Amino acid sequence: MLTGMLADRRMMALVDRECAVVVPENEMKQYVVAAHADTLDFVPGDALADWATRHGKKLRGHTLLWNRAEYIPRWLSERYADAPAAALATWLTGYVGATAAHFGARIHSWDVVNETVDPATGALRDTMFNRKLGFDALRLAFTAARERAPHAQHVYNDYMSWDAGSAKHRAGVLKLLERFRAEAVPVDALGIQSHIGAEGDMTTMSEREREWRGFVDLVVAMGYRLLITEFDVSDHSVGGTVSTRDAQVAAVGKAYLDMMLSYRQLEHLLCWGLVDRYSWLQNFSPRPDQQPLRPLPYDAGYGAKPLRAAIAEALKGAPRRASQS
Ligand code: XIL
Repeated sequence: MLTGMLADRRMMALVDRECAVVVPENEMKQYVVAAHADTLDFVPGDALADWATRHGKKLRGHTLLWNRAEYIPRWLSERYADAPAAALATWLTGYVGATAAHFGARIHSWDVVNETVDPATGALRDTMFNRKLGFDALRLAFTAARERAPHAQHVYNDYMSWDAGSAKHRAGVLKLLERFRAEAVPVDALGIQSHIGAEGDMTTMSEREREWRGFVDLVVAMGYRLLITEFDVSDHSVGGTVSTRDAQVAAVGKAYLDMMLSYRQLEHLLCWGLVDRYSWLQNFSPRPDQQPLRPLPYDAGYGAKPLRAAIAEALKGAPRRASQS
Protein backbone atom coordinates (compact mmCIF):
# COMPACT_ATOMS: atom_id res chain seq x y z
CA MET A 1 0.00 0.00 0.00
CA LEU A 2 0.93 3.61 -0.46
CA THR A 3 -0.56 6.56 1.42
CA GLY A 4 -1.54 7.98 -1.97
CA MET A 5 -4.01 5.10 -2.34
CA LEU A 6 -5.96 5.95 0.80
CA ALA A 7 -7.97 8.54 -1.13
CA ASP A 8 -8.82 6.02 -3.86
CA ARG A 9 -11.94 4.39 -2.47
CA ARG A 10 -12.22 1.71 -5.14
CA MET A 11 -8.62 0.74 -4.54
CA MET A 12 -9.05 0.47 -0.81
CA ALA A 13 -12.29 -1.50 -1.20
CA LEU A 14 -10.32 -3.96 -3.30
CA VAL A 15 -7.54 -4.22 -0.72
CA ASP A 16 -10.17 -4.72 1.97
CA ARG A 17 -11.86 -7.51 0.02
CA GLU A 18 -8.72 -9.31 -1.16
CA CYS A 19 -6.11 -9.00 1.57
CA ALA A 20 -5.71 -10.34 5.08
CA VAL A 21 -2.19 -8.91 5.39
CA VAL A 22 -0.96 -5.55 4.10
CA VAL A 23 2.44 -3.84 3.88
CA PRO A 24 3.49 -0.25 3.21
CA GLU A 25 5.59 0.10 0.06
CA ASN A 26 7.70 3.02 1.30
CA GLU A 27 6.25 4.61 4.43
CA MET A 28 8.34 2.70 6.98
CA LYS A 29 11.65 2.99 5.15
CA GLN A 30 14.54 5.01 6.54
CA TYR A 31 14.30 7.50 3.70
CA VAL A 32 10.81 8.40 4.92
CA VAL A 33 11.03 7.88 8.69
CA ALA A 34 14.53 9.39 9.00
CA ALA A 35 14.26 11.78 6.09
CA HIS A 36 15.41 14.64 8.31
CA ALA A 37 18.24 14.68 10.82
CA ASP A 38 17.49 14.17 14.52
CA THR A 39 13.77 13.52 14.13
CA LEU A 40 11.68 10.50 13.20
CA ASP A 41 8.55 10.91 11.08
CA PHE A 42 6.00 8.18 11.68
CA VAL A 43 3.04 10.06 10.20
CA PRO A 44 2.88 8.26 6.81
CA GLY A 45 3.46 4.83 8.40
CA ASP A 46 0.84 5.52 11.05
CA ALA A 47 -1.71 6.48 8.39
CA LEU A 48 -1.39 3.04 6.81
CA ALA A 49 -1.18 1.27 10.17
CA ASP A 50 -4.40 3.01 11.26
CA TRP A 51 -6.16 1.83 8.10
CA ALA A 52 -4.97 -1.72 8.78
CA THR A 53 -6.20 -1.58 12.38
CA ARG A 54 -9.60 -0.18 11.39
CA HIS A 55 -10.05 -2.89 8.79
CA GLY A 56 -8.78 -5.78 10.91
CA LYS A 57 -5.76 -6.48 8.70
CA LYS A 58 -2.45 -7.91 9.78
CA LEU A 59 0.40 -5.54 9.02
CA ARG A 60 3.94 -6.32 7.87
CA GLY A 61 6.73 -3.81 8.45
CA HIS A 62 9.06 -2.92 5.57
CA THR A 63 11.91 -2.21 6.29
CA LEU A 64 14.20 -1.18 9.16
CA LEU A 65 17.44 -1.27 7.14
CA TRP A 66 17.31 -1.13 3.34
CA ASN A 67 21.02 -1.62 3.04
CA ARG A 68 21.69 -0.04 -0.34
CA ALA A 69 23.70 3.14 -0.70
CA GLU A 70 21.07 4.88 -2.84
CA TYR A 71 18.36 4.49 -0.20
CA ILE A 72 20.30 5.62 2.86
CA PRO A 73 19.32 9.20 3.79
CA ARG A 74 21.92 11.65 2.52
CA TRP A 75 22.25 13.57 5.79
CA LEU A 76 23.04 10.28 7.52
CA SER A 77 25.77 9.32 5.06
CA GLU A 78 27.26 12.79 5.33
CA ARG A 79 27.18 12.88 9.09
CA TYR A 80 28.58 9.41 9.75
CA ALA A 81 30.95 8.82 6.82
CA ASP A 82 33.96 9.95 8.85
CA ALA A 83 32.58 9.35 12.34
CA PRO A 84 33.80 6.47 14.54
CA ALA A 85 32.04 3.17 13.81
CA ALA A 86 30.66 3.13 17.34
CA ALA A 87 28.71 6.35 16.68
CA LEU A 88 27.00 4.83 13.66
CA ALA A 89 26.29 1.64 15.62
CA THR A 90 24.60 3.75 18.30
CA TRP A 91 22.48 5.55 15.69
CA LEU A 92 21.42 2.31 14.03
CA THR A 93 20.50 0.58 17.28
CA GLY A 94 18.55 3.65 18.38
CA TYR A 95 16.76 3.99 15.04
CA VAL A 96 15.76 0.35 14.73
CA GLY A 97 14.70 0.15 18.35
CA ALA A 98 12.64 3.34 18.26
CA THR A 99 10.90 2.40 15.00
CA ALA A 100 10.16 -1.17 16.09
CA ALA A 101 8.85 0.13 19.42
CA HIS A 102 6.75 2.86 17.81
CA PHE A 103 4.78 0.46 15.61
CA GLY A 104 4.82 -2.11 18.40
CA ALA A 105 2.27 -4.90 18.36
CA ARG A 106 0.59 -3.47 15.26
CA ILE A 107 3.26 -5.20 13.20
CA HIS A 108 3.40 -9.00 13.36
CA SER A 109 6.29 -9.44 10.92
CA TRP A 110 9.19 -7.11 10.10
CA ASP A 111 11.55 -7.05 7.15
CA VAL A 112 14.37 -6.05 9.47
CA VAL A 113 17.10 -6.02 6.81
CA ASN A 114 16.41 -5.71 3.07
CA GLU A 115 18.75 -6.51 0.17
CA THR A 116 22.14 -6.46 1.88
CA VAL A 117 23.69 -9.04 -0.49
CA ASP A 118 25.30 -7.80 -3.72
CA PRO A 119 23.77 -9.89 -6.54
CA ALA A 120 26.90 -9.47 -8.69
CA THR A 121 29.30 -11.02 -6.16
CA GLY A 122 27.29 -12.59 -3.34
CA ALA A 123 29.25 -10.48 -0.82
CA LEU A 124 27.73 -7.83 1.43
CA ARG A 125 26.95 -4.68 -0.54
CA ASP A 126 29.24 -1.70 -0.42
CA THR A 127 27.21 0.62 1.83
CA MET A 128 28.19 2.94 4.63
CA PHE A 129 26.74 0.51 7.19
CA ASN A 130 28.62 -2.48 5.78
CA ARG A 131 31.85 -0.55 5.29
CA LYS A 132 31.95 0.78 8.82
CA LEU A 133 30.32 -2.02 10.75
CA GLY A 134 30.46 -5.09 8.49
CA PHE A 135 28.28 -7.97 9.61
CA ASP A 136 27.74 -6.17 12.93
CA ALA A 137 25.36 -3.77 11.17
CA LEU A 138 23.04 -6.69 10.49
CA ARG A 139 23.53 -8.21 13.92
CA LEU A 140 22.73 -4.88 15.58
CA ALA A 141 19.58 -4.38 13.50
CA PHE A 142 18.17 -7.84 14.21
CA THR A 143 19.11 -7.69 17.88
CA ALA A 144 17.50 -4.27 18.38
CA ALA A 145 14.36 -5.38 16.54
CA ARG A 146 14.11 -8.50 18.70
CA GLU A 147 14.58 -6.51 21.88
CA ARG A 148 12.07 -3.79 21.09
CA ALA A 149 9.48 -5.83 19.17
CA PRO A 150 9.87 -9.30 20.67
CA HIS A 151 6.39 -10.41 19.63
CA ALA A 152 7.13 -9.99 15.90
CA GLN A 153 8.60 -12.30 13.31
CA HIS A 154 11.99 -11.00 12.11
CA VAL A 155 12.75 -11.45 8.45
CA TYR A 156 15.72 -11.09 6.11
CA ASN A 157 14.22 -9.99 2.76
CA ASP A 158 15.88 -10.12 -0.68
CA TYR A 159 15.24 -10.65 -4.40
CA MET A 160 17.40 -13.68 -5.26
CA SER A 161 15.37 -15.65 -7.77
CA TRP A 162 15.09 -18.79 -9.86
CA ASP A 163 16.78 -17.08 -12.84
CA ALA A 164 20.08 -18.58 -13.99
CA GLY A 165 21.74 -15.16 -13.53
CA SER A 166 20.82 -15.20 -9.83
CA ALA A 167 23.19 -18.03 -8.82
CA LYS A 168 25.73 -15.77 -7.08
CA HIS A 169 22.94 -13.90 -5.32
CA ARG A 170 21.45 -17.16 -4.04
CA ALA A 171 24.88 -18.38 -2.88
CA GLY A 172 25.50 -15.08 -1.07
CA VAL A 173 22.13 -15.20 0.69
CA LEU A 174 22.77 -18.80 1.78
CA LYS A 175 26.14 -17.80 3.23
CA LEU A 176 24.51 -14.95 5.10
CA LEU A 177 21.72 -17.16 6.47
CA GLU A 178 24.33 -19.68 7.62
CA ARG A 179 26.23 -16.97 9.41
CA PHE A 180 23.07 -15.74 11.14
CA ARG A 181 22.59 -19.25 12.50
CA ALA A 182 26.27 -19.77 13.40
CA GLU A 183 26.34 -16.51 15.38
CA ALA A 184 22.84 -16.88 16.85
CA VAL A 185 21.52 -13.67 15.24
CA PRO A 186 17.76 -13.65 15.84
CA VAL A 187 16.36 -14.14 12.31
CA ASP A 188 13.17 -16.17 11.89
CA ALA A 189 12.47 -16.22 8.20
CA LEU A 190 13.61 -15.48 4.66
CA GLY A 191 11.44 -13.06 2.73
CA ILE A 192 11.53 -14.01 -0.93
CA GLN A 193 10.48 -10.87 -2.79
CA SER A 194 9.35 -12.78 -5.90
CA HIS A 195 9.49 -10.05 -8.52
CA ILE A 196 9.48 -12.59 -11.30
CA GLY A 197 9.44 -12.22 -15.07
CA ALA A 198 6.95 -13.88 -17.41
CA GLU A 199 9.55 -14.26 -20.18
CA GLY A 200 10.81 -17.62 -21.34
CA ASP A 201 8.92 -20.68 -22.41
CA MET A 202 7.55 -23.22 -20.01
CA THR A 203 10.13 -25.84 -21.03
CA THR A 204 12.91 -23.89 -19.29
CA MET A 205 10.79 -23.86 -16.16
CA SER A 206 11.77 -27.30 -14.88
CA GLU A 207 15.50 -26.46 -14.99
CA ARG A 208 14.91 -23.17 -13.16
CA GLU A 209 12.66 -24.95 -10.71
CA ARG A 210 15.31 -27.57 -9.93
CA GLU A 211 17.95 -24.90 -9.22
CA TRP A 212 15.57 -22.92 -7.09
CA ARG A 213 14.39 -25.89 -5.06
CA GLY A 214 18.03 -26.65 -4.30
CA PHE A 215 18.28 -23.18 -2.75
CA VAL A 216 14.99 -23.25 -0.86
CA ASP A 217 15.65 -26.76 0.48
CA LEU A 218 18.86 -25.51 2.11
CA VAL A 219 17.08 -22.47 3.57
CA VAL A 220 14.37 -24.52 5.24
CA ALA A 221 16.92 -27.10 6.41
CA MET A 222 18.46 -24.30 8.48
CA GLY A 223 15.10 -23.84 10.18
CA TYR A 224 13.97 -20.63 8.47
CA ARG A 225 10.32 -19.98 7.69
CA LEU A 226 9.53 -18.56 4.23
CA LEU A 227 7.42 -15.64 3.00
CA ILE A 228 6.58 -14.32 -0.44
CA THR A 229 6.81 -10.64 0.32
CA GLU A 230 6.54 -8.72 -2.98
CA PHE A 231 4.98 -10.89 -5.69
CA ASP A 232 4.48 -9.54 -9.20
CA VAL A 233 5.01 -11.04 -12.66
CA SER A 234 6.48 -8.60 -15.15
CA ASP A 235 5.50 -8.81 -18.82
CA HIS A 236 8.36 -6.46 -19.71
CA SER A 237 9.46 -8.33 -22.82
CA VAL A 238 6.45 -10.51 -23.53
CA GLY A 239 5.06 -9.81 -26.99
CA GLY A 240 1.62 -10.33 -28.47
CA THR A 241 -1.82 -9.07 -27.61
CA VAL A 242 -2.91 -8.06 -24.14
CA SER A 243 -4.68 -11.38 -23.69
CA THR A 244 -1.59 -13.37 -24.74
CA ARG A 245 0.49 -11.36 -22.29
CA ASP A 246 -2.03 -11.84 -19.49
CA ALA A 247 -2.17 -15.58 -20.14
CA GLN A 248 1.63 -15.86 -20.01
CA VAL A 249 1.80 -13.84 -16.78
CA ALA A 250 -0.86 -16.09 -15.24
CA ALA A 251 0.81 -19.34 -16.39
CA VAL A 252 4.25 -18.38 -15.06
CA GLY A 253 2.73 -16.97 -11.86
CA LYS A 254 0.81 -20.20 -11.28
CA ALA A 255 3.86 -22.41 -11.84
CA TYR A 256 5.90 -20.27 -9.45
CA LEU A 257 3.25 -20.22 -6.73
CA ASP A 258 2.56 -23.96 -7.01
CA MET A 259 6.24 -24.60 -6.43
CA MET A 260 6.50 -22.14 -3.53
CA LEU A 261 3.31 -23.31 -1.87
CA SER A 262 4.58 -26.88 -1.89
CA TYR A 263 6.82 -25.73 0.98
CA ARG A 264 4.75 -25.89 4.15
CA GLN A 265 7.21 -23.45 5.72
CA LEU A 266 5.74 -20.73 3.48
CA GLU A 267 3.54 -18.45 5.59
CA HIS A 268 2.47 -15.44 3.59
CA LEU A 269 1.80 -14.37 0.04
CA LEU A 270 1.84 -10.61 -0.49
CA CYS A 271 1.59 -8.93 -3.88
CA TRP A 272 3.51 -5.71 -4.44
CA GLY A 273 0.33 -3.85 -5.33
CA LEU A 274 -2.97 -5.17 -6.66
CA VAL A 275 -3.73 -2.90 -9.60
CA ASP A 276 -1.39 -2.58 -12.61
CA ARG A 277 -1.70 1.18 -12.62
CA TYR A 278 0.01 1.51 -9.24
CA SER A 279 2.78 -1.01 -9.87
CA TRP A 280 6.29 0.25 -9.08
CA LEU A 281 7.45 -1.52 -12.26
CA GLN A 282 5.75 1.08 -14.48
CA ASN A 283 8.54 3.49 -13.51
CA PHE A 284 11.30 1.12 -12.54
CA SER A 285 11.30 -1.08 -15.63
CA PRO A 286 8.93 0.12 -18.37
CA ARG A 287 8.22 -1.96 -21.47
CA PRO A 288 10.40 -1.17 -24.49
CA ASP A 289 7.21 -0.55 -26.52
CA GLN A 290 5.99 1.98 -23.89
CA GLN A 291 2.74 0.08 -23.32
CA PRO A 292 1.76 -0.10 -19.64
CA LEU A 293 2.95 -3.25 -17.87
CA ARG A 294 0.39 -5.82 -16.66
CA PRO A 295 2.18 -7.50 -13.71
CA LEU A 296 -0.58 -7.52 -11.05
CA PRO A 297 -3.89 -9.37 -10.52
CA TYR A 298 -6.12 -6.39 -11.41
CA ASP A 299 -6.07 -4.15 -14.47
CA ALA A 300 -6.15 -0.37 -14.57
CA GLY A 301 -9.97 -0.45 -14.56
CA TYR A 302 -9.93 -2.63 -11.40
CA GLY A 303 -11.08 -5.71 -13.32
CA ALA A 304 -9.72 -9.12 -12.30
CA LYS A 305 -7.16 -10.57 -14.72
CA PRO A 306 -6.10 -14.19 -15.33
CA LEU A 307 -3.34 -13.72 -12.73
CA ARG A 308 -6.08 -13.23 -10.09
CA ALA A 309 -7.58 -16.61 -11.00
CA ALA A 310 -4.12 -18.22 -11.10
CA ILE A 311 -3.36 -17.04 -7.57
CA ALA A 312 -6.71 -18.32 -6.31
CA GLU A 313 -6.17 -21.69 -7.96
CA ALA A 314 -2.66 -22.01 -6.58
CA LEU A 315 -3.94 -21.24 -3.08
CA LYS A 316 -6.82 -23.69 -3.39
CA GLY A 317 -4.52 -26.46 -4.59
CA ALA A 318 -1.84 -25.86 -1.97
CA PRO A 319 -1.09 -28.35 0.79
CA ARG A 320 -2.55 -27.07 4.04
CA ARG A 321 -0.32 -25.17 6.43
CA ALA A 322 -0.07 -26.15 10.10
CA SER A 323 -1.34 -22.67 11.07
CA GLN A 324 -4.46 -23.05 8.89
CA SER A 325 -7.76 -23.76 10.56
C1 XIL B 1 9.81 0.17 -4.26
C2 XIL B 1 8.49 0.93 -4.18
O1 XIL B 1 7.45 0.09 -4.65
C3 XIL B 1 8.57 2.20 -4.98
O2 XIL B 1 7.40 2.96 -4.78
C4 XIL B 1 9.80 3.00 -4.55
O3 XIL B 1 9.96 4.11 -5.39
C5 XIL B 1 11.07 2.16 -4.60
O4 XIL B 1 10.87 1.00 -3.84
N1 XIL B 1 12.26 -4.22 -3.49
C6 XIL B 1 11.86 -3.72 -2.28
C7 XIL B 1 10.86 -2.65 -2.23
O5 XIL B 1 12.24 -4.25 -1.23
O6 XIL B 1 11.05 -1.80 -1.14
C8 XIL B 1 10.85 -1.84 -3.51
O7 XIL B 1 9.75 -0.94 -3.43
C9 XIL B 1 10.74 -2.74 -4.70
C10 XIL B 1 11.91 -3.68 -4.77
